[in-house]
Amino acid sequence: MSKYVSWSCVVSNPYYSQCVPGSSGSSGSSGTSTSTSTASTPSLTGIAATAPTTPPSKLTGMLPALGWNHWNAYGCSINETKVLAAANDFISLGLKDAGYEYINIDDCWPLMQRDPTTMQIVPDPSKFPNGISGVATQIHALGLKMGIYSDAGTATCAGFPGSLGMESLDAATFSSWGIDYLKYDNCNVPANWTDSSTPQDGDWYNSNSAIRYRQMGGALAEQPNPFQFDLCIWGAANVWDWGARVGHSWRMSGDSAPTWQYITEIIGINVQHLSSINFFSHNDMDMMEIGNGALTIEEQRTHFAAWVFLKSPILLGTDLSLLNSTQISIITNSELLAFSQDSTVGTPAAPFNATASLPTTSIPEYYSGESSKGVHVFIINTSSSSATKSFAFANVPGLTGSGPFILHDMWTGTDLTGTYSLSSTFTVTVASHDTVAYRITSS
Ligand code: GAL
Repeated sequence: MSKYVSWSCVVSNPYYSQCVPGSSGSSGSSGTSTSTSTASTPSLTGIAATAPTTPPSKLTGMLPALGWNHWNAYGCSINETKVLAAANDFISLGLKDAGYEYINIDDCWPLMQRDPTTMQIVPDPSKFPNGISGVATQIHALGLKMGIYSDAGTATCAGFPGSLGMESLDAATFSSWGIDYLKYDNCNVPANWTDSSTPQDGDWYNSNSAIRYRQMGGALAEQPNPFQFDLCIWGAANVWDWGARVGHSWRMSGDSAPTWQYITEIIGINVQHLSSINFFSHNDMDMMEIGNGALTIEEQRTHFAAWVFLKSPILLGTDLSLLNSTQISIITNSELLAFSQDSTVGTPAAPFNATASLPTTSIPEYYSGESSKGVHVFIINTSSSSATKSFAFANVPGLTGSGPFILHDMWTGTDLTGTYSLSSTFTVTVASHDTVAYRITSS
């Protein structure tokens, strides 16, 4: 039953309406005329009745995106040269061959004002002298795909034009430039488009936040090319419950940082929402920090492994030309990438009770999951010194038969010596903040 007695609705165009409980509505869009009406029940009237329900494209986004995004490396200081350098690094460093595909521009690419005649967002000619379409052409010529960034508010986080109320025009513009992927941020949202409380019946799909994203999802679906759609909604509005009805992936938190604290925090958040992850449906743990800050190599291995086994998009976020060979070997590890990109198993690894009496740790340390290649175990050492870790084969979910089993080290690509039975316990010393990764198969 409704907890609100009346809803005041603003209807601006077929894509754009909004109802606010118990108060008078006001326009959330720019440049459109509005009319106001009152509905007594919110469900399937006003906002819920008129917002698009178009699901995301099934022609893209089945597997976690692999690519690069400029933000962590360059912030607002972005231009065509840097973007094309990343694309060329994808080729020369073997990243394209490893499966990396997207070259994504983040905030700060346009001019501050839309074109007053066409109302289109205008690429800043001092940063992108060939426009965005000129960059997209070159990226496509390398066999890669291109992503862009906009915002489900009136302005981006850095103050450039947002797409709220302009979804159809902006989606068509991005499509005409050859864009394949949209990251859609959540800054500068007018007050009447936010959610100050849980929506009626806990229906976050019909919340103001979700509807802002649904407006863009509907507009993208009208374009001739498929768009991969990443909802940069920072884990707000219970996005894990409805994100897959709107986009292919959704941010689960505020911005990443190149710190062990960030890595463990975001793993801790994601393990609470594993049931949201499957094909076309990915919790986004935010862009990679490998190459940034002062992460140890062990922490960078854990960073990569966790994004792999929780099936997050992996968008590299550094100047790729500065990575050393150890870092390149981490991000191109074919066996870990195969787990991320498995086309028959869409579910992530999940925490399991590796031994009868597991100590409590800040985040779970033991994860298991299946792929088309076998059953996998990942072990993170969260302590600040090296430690001995053990798992009992009998405790690994999904292991069938009594063995013997072969244990394979995914980092080195080699089998461990010896065979194991269901009654075996495996023990290994793991360096501080490192992650070991194994595949188990029957011999
Ligand atoms: C944040 C977003 C970041 C980056 C930044 C650009 O809201 O979470 O990933 O896109 O805006 O201003």
